[in-house]
Amino acid sequence: METDAGDTTAPATLSPRPPCARISCHKSSNICSRSYFMVVMVFFHIYIINVIALLLYVHYNDGHGGAGPSRDAPSGEHRQLPESHRLPAQPEFLRDISLPRIEGIRVGHVQKVSLVTDKVHEMRTLSLKPLLFEIPDFLSEEECRVVMQLAQLKGLMESQLMVQEGQEELVEELNLSPEDIFNLLDINQDGQLQLHEILTHSRVRDGIWLTPENLREIYAGLKADKDGNGLLSLEEFRLLSSDAFQRFLLQQGVKRSQLVRNSRHTWLYQGKGAHRVLQDIKKRVTRLTRLPPALVDLSEPLQVVLYEQGGHYHAHHDSGPVYPETACTHTRLAANTSTPFETSCRYITVLFYLNSVEGGGETAFPVADNRTYDEVSLIQNDVDLLDTRKNCDKSNLRVKPTKGTAVFWYNYLSDGKGWVGEQDEYSLHGGCMVTHGMKWVANKWINIDPDYQRQARYQQLVSQQPEDDDDDDEGLKMSTDPYNSDTHQDL
Ligand code: OGA
Ligand code: CA
Ligand code: FE2
Repeated sequence: METDAGDTTAPATLSPRPPCARISCHKSSNICSRSYFMVVMVFFHIYIINVIALLLYVHYNDGHGGAGPSRDAPSGEHRQLPESHRLPAQPEFLRDISLPRIEGIRVGHVQKVSLVTDKVHEMRTLSLKPLLFEIPDFLSEEECRVVMQLAQLKGLMESQLMVQEGQEELVEELNLSPEDIFNLLDINQDGQLQLHEILTHSRVRDGIWLTPENLREIYAGLKADKDGNGLLSLEEFRLLSSDAFQRFLLQQGVKRSQLVRNSRHTWLYQGKGAHRVLQDIKKRVTRLTRLPPALVDLSEPLQVVLYEQGGHYHAHHDSGPVYPETACTHTRLAANTSTPFETSCRYITVLFYLNSVEGGGETAFPVADNRTYDEVSLIQNDVDLLDTRKNCDKSNLRVKPTKGTAVFWYNYLSDGKGWVGEQDEYSLHGGCMVTHGMKWVANKWINIDPDYQRQARYQQLVSQQPEDDDDDDEGLKMSTDPYNSDTHQDL
């Protein structure tokens, strides 16, 4: 910070002055007069008298149910209010649980795990960022067959509808000018929009996955890039209407291969009354993850996914980032929060391969064990690492689908205190294009709210519903009563 020249010479020329001289006495010396001093003193006394009056008020109201008892008031003659009168409206849950996390040790490390009575499984560490494991023969051939048949019986639906709407309204609501949008898009602030700058911010338009080639076609179709240099200047950008891109895309007709996700899926419930195989899988997942059974019981059903030849799922996160404005879908209603955004909170993904795929269909982790994670560099002008139709070969890690194998990973880091922390950005993954045959997988997601209190409130609410009383219900209980220690979860 700069100081002006007068200040530097000031100390040498200062003569002793009354204290108020430091405030503002240069113009009129009369405000430093005796009467000014009197006024200040009067105000000072009124202030002191007010404070004393307030203290007396609090003191005399103590025993009469008026103002609440002051915490450090002597308890002698005034009886304290019973504990229950002082509880806040939303009870705080006692945090009496620490979630276990399986150690990866190092890539390639194999640990033996006991998941079923007559067999020992081997669990291999595939990466540390994200913490990712592979367990061959997690499911038997028979189990794979049953799950695929149950899914077919139930019927599979398109995983992604052709066109979703809503993004334009958000832009309208934010009331951004074309200049504002241009500046937001122009990451390197060179006054031109490179292809990757457009794609980084709007890789997905209404569920349509844009590629650099698409974008060039759109430019040509709309005659947007007048000087033909492959970049958009502010002038060129201004001439485009806000919905020009998607009107063009929709006119062209959208193919399934242009969507974020090209597959069909269904959900299979695993609670009481479900097929024995589905219940067994849930139990095995509980043993594998070592999480409290209640957490697994209360999670989403099993999702069974079918990719036909040409099917894919571009790289994504199964869970959203943790922001104060975001609530988890699974706890939102119960936790009674009114946050503007909602996201899936899937602490763990367990992915099962139900068949061995003839060609393609690997699960790709583009940035697994990268030294750093840089969202911007995921997409260069002509290479989009998130594109699993084109660039799976450039992913750091690919898992080949083998019948019966399970892989599982953590989508969140630990908070260091035994609960769920930040989203693990390295958990980015996708399903590569199936080049031959079909690909059947199933997902078991384990939902945990990174906000412990919200998770606890949710669990308390659902545990009050009798029909959800599951068999092995020694699960997680969120105690509000610090003295009732038998609710403590033994892990
Ligand atoms: C998913 C997913 C990967 C795959 O369904 O969320 O990422 O290999 N699947 O199918
Ligand atoms: Ca630029
Ligand atoms: Fe996924």
